[in-house]
Amino acid sequence: MKLTYFLREAAAALYFLGAFVPSITAVPVQLQQLTSREPAAAVSPELPRLVIYYQTTHDSDGRPISMLPLITEKNIALTHLIVCSFHVVADGGIHLNDYPPDHSLFYTLWNETQVMKSAGVKIMGMVGGAAAGSFTDQTLDARNADVFERAYAQLHDTIQLYQLDGMDLDVEQPMSLPGIVRLVRRLRSDFGPDFIITLAPVASALHEGANLSGFDYKSLERIDGADISFYNAQFYNGFGDMQTPKFYEAVVTDWQGWHPSRILAGQITTPANGGGFVSFDKLNETIVALSRSVGGIGGIMGWEYFNSESGIPEREPWRWAQVMTAILRPNLFRELVVTRSTADRLVESWRESVSGWRANSVNLGVGVSWIPDDLLTPNVDYLGMVNA
Ligand SMILES: *[C@@H]1O[C@H](CO)[C@@H](O)[C@H](O)[C@H]1NC(C)=O
Ligand SMILES: *[C@@H]1O[C@H](CO)[C@@H](O)[C@H](O)[C@H]1NC(C)=O
Ligand SMILES: *[C@@H]1O[C@H](CO)[C@@H](O)[C@H](O)[C@H]1NC(C)=O
Repeated sequence: MKLTYFLREAAAALYFLGAFVPSITAVPVQLQQLTSREPAAAVSPELPRLVIYYQTTHDSDGRPISMLPLITEKNIALTHLIVCSFHVVADGGIHLNDYPPDHSLFYTLWNETQVMKSAGVKIMGMVGGAAAGSFTDQTLDARNADVFERAYAQLHDTIQLYQLDGMDLDVEQPMSLPGIVRLVRRLRSDFGPDFIITLAPVASALHEGANLSGFDYKSLERIDGADISFYNAQFYNGFGDMQTPKFYEAVVTDWQGWHPSRILAGQITTPANGGGFVSFDKLNETIVALSRSVGGIGGIMGWEYFNSESGIPEREPWRWAQVMTAILRPNLFRELVVTRSTADRLVESWRESVSGWRANSVNLGVGVSWIPDDLLTPNVDYLGMVNA
């Protein structure tokens, strides 16, 4: 049977269910049908979602990793890009990876996220991840209210400053249930009903198996599920897998808490990023099977952007998103609008991002004055993108 058949079925199912899912947003005008071959999708185009984590910001020479090909290249229908990893530091300032988020090396990142937003992609942040510290008794899991307020303010101000559409809470160290509930409720009450709040558990934590977060996700869902938009569940590294539909089916059928529209199948984008990489043909088979057995899935999440592989030798990470779009959201794409002044700003922020990175690169031991000219010239054709 044809994938389009299943997708259409899934689309119809998700459309009805979508009405009950709190975070589903209106149809962004920029998301368009490529052809009229498909029936005018009776589905909120947010589903199934295509989510990518963007963590590595520079290549080894200090060139920024541009995210704009995710829009400018054909046949990619990205829904969410998650900038990561933020770390809330006890008695300190928030960091994005190793630096304060306003460091000049991130100028390209933050200027590009504005362009992505104008194309309809939701830009989120992620706090936590593999490095411990953000969810301790000294930070976001503090029993002491003042300590919590100080830590939370770092996150709050970052969301505001960079106009993030949402925050992903990737709790990979033991945190208390009251602690995570307090954080979720606070984000909801401070940023309102449209703010996207997600968590990123290992898939097994949604299914009576190993967990990294300490608290029980079913209890969290019972207490505060209405405030959680969806789960970027990690189906890799031995905590779940997508070689077959079995694991995902177990997550959504063994307990009444999670509707498939809320569970994304998190995948590593290359075997270099962990264990349990699933070939694209297998993944497609699994997704097709899930369309039949559970009516479709909430989407696919990929960890992480810069080194994504697509099965062809070129190192063009956006190609992974193209393959995922073909599997999940065929015939959808997004449109970019870039003015001359935006392009000029992107060229300028590129120079500063390279200089900022080189100035900080302890490994290289070279100063700003040593930057070769070719590094300061963007390897992305910003001026060629001008179309408005
Ligand atoms: C999470 O994992 C820890 C460590 O294995 C275990 O002690 C705890 O009981 C688990 N919690 C839940 C809610 O599954
Ligand atoms: C996925 O599998 C279906 C069914 O075999 C096939 O029709 C479709 O072309 C495949 N899609 C991709 C992107 O491989
Ligand atoms: C965009 O880049 C410029 C430098 O070209 C910088 O001054 C500005 O702060 C950047 N925008 C953001 C939001 O970081």
